[in-house]
Amino acid sequence: MNILLLGSGGREHAMACQLAASPKCTNLYVAPGNAGTAGMANHYGQTLVQNVAIEPTDFAAIHSFVIRHEISMVVVGPEAPLVAGIKDYFASNLTLRKVMVIGPSKQCAQLEGSKDYAKAFMQRHNIPTAAYRTFTTDTLKDGIAFLDTLKPPYVLKADGLAAGKGVLILPSLKEAKQELTSMLRDAKFGEASSKVVIEEYLDGVELSVFVLCDGKHYKILPTAKDYKRIGEGDTGLNTGGMGSVSPVFFADKQFMQKVEDRIVSPTVKGLYKEETPYKGFVFIGLMAVADPTTGELEPYVIEYNVRMGDPETESVFPRIKSDMVGLLEHVWRGNLQQTSLEIDPRAAACVMAVAEGYPGHYEKGQPINGIDDVDGSIVYHAGTRLDDQGRLLTNGGRVLCVTSLADSIPQALLKSYQELSKISWNGMYYRRDIGQDLLKMIVGH
Ligand code: AMP
Ligand code: GLY
Repeated sequence: MNILLLGSGGREHAMACQLAASPKCTNLYVAPGNAGTAGMANHYGQTLVQNVAIEPTDFAAIHSFVIRHEISMVVVGPEAPLVAGIKDYFASNLTLRKVMVIGPSKQCAQLEGSKDYAKAFMQRHNIPTAAYRTFTTDTLKDGIAFLDTLKPPYVLKADGLAAGKGVLILPSLKEAKQELTSMLRDAKFGEASSKVVIEEYLDGVELSVFVLCDGKHYKILPTAKDYKRIGEGDTGLNTGGMGSVSPVFFADKQFMQKVEDRIVSPTVKGLYKEETPYKGFVFIGLMAVADPTTGELEPYVIEYNVRMGDPETESVFPRIKSDMVGLLEHVWRGNLQQTSLEIDPRAAACVMAVAEGYPGHYEKGQPINGIDDVDGSIVYHAGTRLDDQGRLLTNGGRVLCVTSLADSIPQALLKSYQELSKISWNGMYYRRDIGQDLLKMIVGH
């Protein structure tokens, strides 16, 4: 079959590798893709891989491309087309209706598009999450009074999508009140902060859990942890993600049973009851909080996303051995329970390399050297492009990552760092401490 994958990051390069490797895939088109997906043209045996210059939210262009190229499946990488309603666009058109769109409806995408919607959903379905209240400009005074009742640090979340910047964690009551005012009254994050969720602070360790859902049945994919801050020791500004490891050692059988019983199962049941069938990936950001009396780790939901994570996909997808196109067909047909998920028992570690200055201002167009010397690891491209002479150039903040599979996380990390050291460009930066927090926890265990 012919498949169209939307997106251009490392996540999409990792997804493209899995889709193209499937014997069911004849042509894989990536819109718009990057130099990594462009470079897949000669690597995937029977499958032809090609980039197409279409933006993931340009539904009219996607529509005509799907018809012209007889696309049977559209896999959506990022959230923007989902929040903009790509699933509904296909469902409301007689010719497009039969195309398998992997991703939820606009309504379900509100799980990611609105913090208030997500919190209310969790409350309705008794899913453990931090206690919260939502405020608007009209109720700013009540919001300030509510802050008076809480203990520091204070967590303020712009309701809408704010490019990963809409969550503030503030140490003092004074700052919390100032920021709440600036979000609600002065539209600090524009329309996104016309509503603000204030919630209880959860003290714990984060991890990401991914669920593939056909509307009713689901498969839990391998766990991962990502590293969001730019600086080592989790310092500095938030980024899209500087690396990831999979699996997360403390997410053992007992912990994952709690996650499944208290979070995954009620989430899928809730979606089934309330919405059009959710056919796609659910990304659950969790905080594992130690119970003060028993010391046992208890999972709480921090956020939902309606897509895979980036760079978590770059350590989760290479561990999936089952045929990805086959899995997604089961998702579309609603019979995911009839298939099994085969996971590579090895650990994966992904280290992301970024442009100097990222996540602030950075230069594009730096020549990248040494990629061909990488041996035994996978290079996933993110912000890269080829120039007219076929030279590889940087083309974004997050440029590329190296993922390695090995018998343990320390071995996988060692290999990724070894291979990454062969690559260079002017201003290349990466964190040297990916996974170290988990390794310290293991030692202290
Ligand atoms: P979110 O966009 O909701 O994932 O929040 C961004 C980041 O803020 C998360 O990855 C957490 O590190 C942190 N965070 C969000 N909510 C809380 C909370 N209730 N308690 C502690 N940290 C939080
Ligand atoms: N790695 C976090 C995200 O994709 O949102």
